[in-house]
Amino acid sequence: MANDGVDKSRRRFLVAATSVVGAAGAVAVAVPFVSSMLPSARARSAGAPVEGDISGLEPGQMVTFQWRGKPVWVVYRTEEMLKTLPELDDQLRDPNSDESDQPEYCKNEHRSIKPQYLVTIGICTHLGCAPTYRPDVAPADLGPDWKGGFFCPCHGSRYDLAARVYQGVPAPLNLPIPPHKYLSDTRILIGVDQEGAA
Ligand code: FES
Repeated sequence: MANDGVDKSRRRFLVAATSVVGAAGAVAVAVPFVSSMLPSARARSAGAPVEGDISGLEPGQMVTFQWRGKPVWVVYRTEEMLKTLPELDDQLRDPNSDESDQPEYCKNEHRSIKPQYLVTIGICTHLGCAPTYRPDVAPADLGPDWKGGFFCPCHGSRYDLAARVYQGVPAPLNLPIPPHKYLSDTRILIGVDQEGAA
């Protein structure tokens, strides 16, 4: 009987000790869990980088990725498309992108790292509608001078194939270029500057 009493009190002690360890263990487990969740939640709201596969993109085509809840377009421009860019400068509001938003490494004649790939945020700089990609040359609805670009159906803003806005439309600025870099010839990382960027 005496042994029973000892055993019982030891069991109580062990149970109590186990509970404490369990509670401490739960805290110890919970802390890393919470701390591992918080950065990713912060990263999501701040916009974690997004990797995109452009291996299937054919010349003339566009693909859309989502970054920070925004559509990011990647357009594979052909040589013919690139040739239209310098011809349009005098019809554009900000041909050299002095007022517009892009990383320094994309402030050039094609507004991109690689001439053939335009990477831009597909939100109209007027009131935020989604422009449509219109690579067709001189379509009936856009007129004989249209050389391909982006058309916003909300209030008629027009952008060229470097996402530069035309004069005489409501949008004030070129479409923004997000920070990005190439991981390989076919993979792009959106949301991170290329190495050595200012
Ligand atoms: S929102 Fe695009 S033209 Fe107004």
